[in-house]
Amino acid sequence: MPSVTPSLVTHAFARVRPVGALWRLRGYLKPFRTQMIVMFAAALSAVAGEIAIPLLTKSVIDGAIAHGDKRLLIPLSLAAVGLGVAVAMMNMIRRWIQSGAVAEIEKAIRDDLYAHLQRLQPSFHDSWQSGQLLSRATTDLSAIRRFAGFGLIFLVTNVMTFVAVVGLLIHLNWWLGLVTGVVFTPVLPVCFRFEKRYRVLSRRVQDQQGDLATLIEEAAAGIRVLKALGRGREAAAGHHAQAAEVCRTQVEKAALLGSFWALLDLIPNAVIGVVIVLGAMAVAAHSLTLGGLVAFITLALELVWPVEAMGYIIASGQEAATAAQRVLEIFDTEPEITDEDHAPERGEVRVLASARAPRRRIPGPRQPAQAPGRLVFDHVAFSYPGAAEPVLRDVVLDLAPGQTLVLTGATGSGKSTLLQLVPRLADVTSGSVRLDGTDVRDLPLERLRAAVGCAFEDATLFSASVRENVTFGAPDADQDAVEAALTAAQARFATCRGAWTPGSASRAWPCPAASGSGSRWPRPSWPGRTC
Ligand SMILES: Nc1ncnc2c1ncn2[C@@H]1O[C@H](COP(=O)(O)OP(=O)(O)O)[C@@H](O)[C@H]1O
Ligand SMILES: [Mg+2]
Repeated sequence: MPSVTPSLVTHAFARVRPVGALWRLRGYLKPFRTQMIVMFAAALSAVAGEIAIPLLTKSVIDGAIAHGDKRLLIPLSLAAVGLGVAVAMMNMIRRWIQSGAVAEIEKAIRDDLYAHLQRLQPSFHDSWQSGQLLSRATTDLSAIRRFAGFGLIFLVTNVMTFVAVVGLLIHLNWWLGLVTGVVFTPVLPVCFRFEKRYRVLSRRVQDQQGDLATLIEEAAAGIRVLKALGRGREAAAGHHAQAAEVCRTQVEKAALLGSFWALLDLIPNAVIGVVIVLGAMAVAAHSLTLGGLVAFITLALELVWPVEAMGYIIASGQEAATAAQRVLEIFDTEPEITDEDHAPERGEVRVLASARAPRRRIPGPRQPAQAPGRLVFDHVAFSYPGAAEPVLRDVVLDLAPGQTLVLTGATGSGKSTLLQLVPRLADVTSGSVRLDGTDVRDLPLERLRAAVGCAFEDATLFSASVRENVTFGAPDADQDAVEAALTAAQARFATCRGAWTPGSASRAWPCPAASGSGSRWPRPSWPGRTC
């Protein structure tokens, strides 16, 4: 099994910076503007409530207790309870809205990614490892969801909490408040340093996970080859090596996170120590009341979570940013075989792919003639991208409707390539392929592909019923046609195992052959279709 090289998947595009990539995905937040505003409002209200509770404590100590005014105790206690309940309610509202909104955002990006992958030409899929695509569509999108649902909100609310609390501390005692604020400043350089190192590790681990997914997918899809050629041991060794790489990088990442979080734990707790000592001195010097000191310490304790949480937030933001970068690497790949003059194939991708090389403008659409299908190859040449030699040179064919052409040639002589030029799975390098006099590049892709049927030598079974697989290219086919196709493909056994009764389209195929992606089974040829 070939070793997996991450460089394979990163050569075709200009890299976007991770944070810039995350910013480019902001369009997905727009439909949830109202929810975002309510979420932020709820989060900020909760923070305001939390900050107000120590101020109530101060009033209790300096007012009700210091002056023996018991009448104040009940209303102040009730106010504290009310604030506590309000904080809990606000947090509940935030979580409730957030979980729905971020799941929708993830779904929207995933749908667009899938639609974009469908628009990309087969040569793109040839050059990308399937595991890399899979990991981008799953783990990377989850990282973006986690940041949108957690990191983004707490980044804003924690910074605001920090500013508000330090402002209140300064208000309670200006010099003690300033000292407290200043003692926190080492957090900034620590965060910057961590962010730089974590960015590299987080990208590395995400790429390595993609490579690992590729190996697992290949081992599952190629299990027959592995077993038949006795290469299971080598494949397992390749898997272990890649899994060990992922593990090493994860451990390195965890070690970095561990030391960073330890520092973030240390700083606020050290600050509390300083505040207690200096606060006691301030009370002794009568520049702070006892209630003020209690409020001061309680407020300073409220700085512990925002500072500690910066570790999670930066890590989550960094993972989301590299995930966005990896996802945009796909979105930024422009489809080469396009149909831009025809509305049905126009992309619905909301992430705007950056404008890159201008695309060849295909002359305006002409409707295909309702003729029976005369296929002409007019001095066709074709080269695969990056290949030194063309595969096809000056091919001239004129096939009348109903005519059968048998092409024979050595393996690698270009028979399959020639076939791909008709439904535009690849576009000619020069010359043209014409269907009833119209260049196939001038036909709407959807209509062209509906008119041309292809049966490839490498068969793929989709996770669907046998009938759905057989009628993949012709969903309206009747029972006789399905039976005929199964007979032609020597696949009547599919109807004999109780897996599929004729006429039922919904019965799933229970045999291992159709149990998942990558299943292989001789694909039935489709009678009555060309190619
Ligand atoms: N995706 C590809 N990228 C680059 N070269 C390819 C690709 N597919 C096929 N080729 C090359 O094009 C030539 C023709 O391949 P193909 O059309 O599959 O031949 P045939 O079907 O006659 O066996 C071969 O030399 C093959 O190596
Ligand atoms: Mg072939």
